[in-house]
Amino acid sequence: MNLFDLHSHLLFDVDHGVQDRNLYRALLLEYRKYGIRTLVLTPHVFHPTVKTKVENIRENFRLASEDASRVGIKTILGAELYLGSQIDVKTIPIAGRYALVEFPVSAKPIGLDRKLQQLLDQGLEPVIAHVERYPWLRPQDQTFRMFKDMGAWIQVNVSGIENRTAMPYIHRDLVDIIADDNHGDRSLPKRFRACLDAYPEICARMESMGL
Ligand SMILES: [Fe+2]
Repeated sequence: MNLFDLHSHLLFDVDHGVQDRNLYRALLLEYRKYGIRTLVLTPHVFHPTVKTKVENIRENFRLASEDASRVGIKTILGAELYLGSQIDVKTIPIAGRYALVEFPVSAKPIGLDRKLQQLLDQGLEPVIAHVERYPWLRPQDQTFRMFKDMGAWIQVNVSGIENRTAMPYIHRDLVDIIADDNHGDRSLPKRFRACLDAYPEICARMESMGL
């Protein structure tokens, strides 16, 4: 089984994730140690408070990919798109197919259905990042039903499993993806692997993404 991390801030010196290439290299070894062979690097884009050095993304991804391939890890570039007040919805798709999206924690964004529809119109499949994080969203809500009806993939974080906030989704069998959203924590690869091992049915859904 190809174990992968779909949501990470490992791409160094672009946002508030990993800053230093040496830390990135150390983290690569940790992921490899725990059998994670594909990393999707998803820097923040269009986040209202996280400053992203967009101009660094392509070159740093090239360097990051070189480091990764040296230790037998495949990297894929994507982004974590903040869906807030923008009119035009744009992102860096993962493998040309998936759009990882996050929302404001404080309130559901106005016109969320239209914004997600824009991604669908671009031929992209939305992936709802850390679904457990939003106080305005519950698994039985109409909004969550809309996500499912449009074929969106549902992602929870390792931290959400550890602190149990993801459980209402996991217990209802609504989760497609576990990711670690790693911003530079050396302990996360091990904890991520433990979560994957605990939920083989979710791993099977991840496998079906074809990454
Ligand atoms: Fe993230």
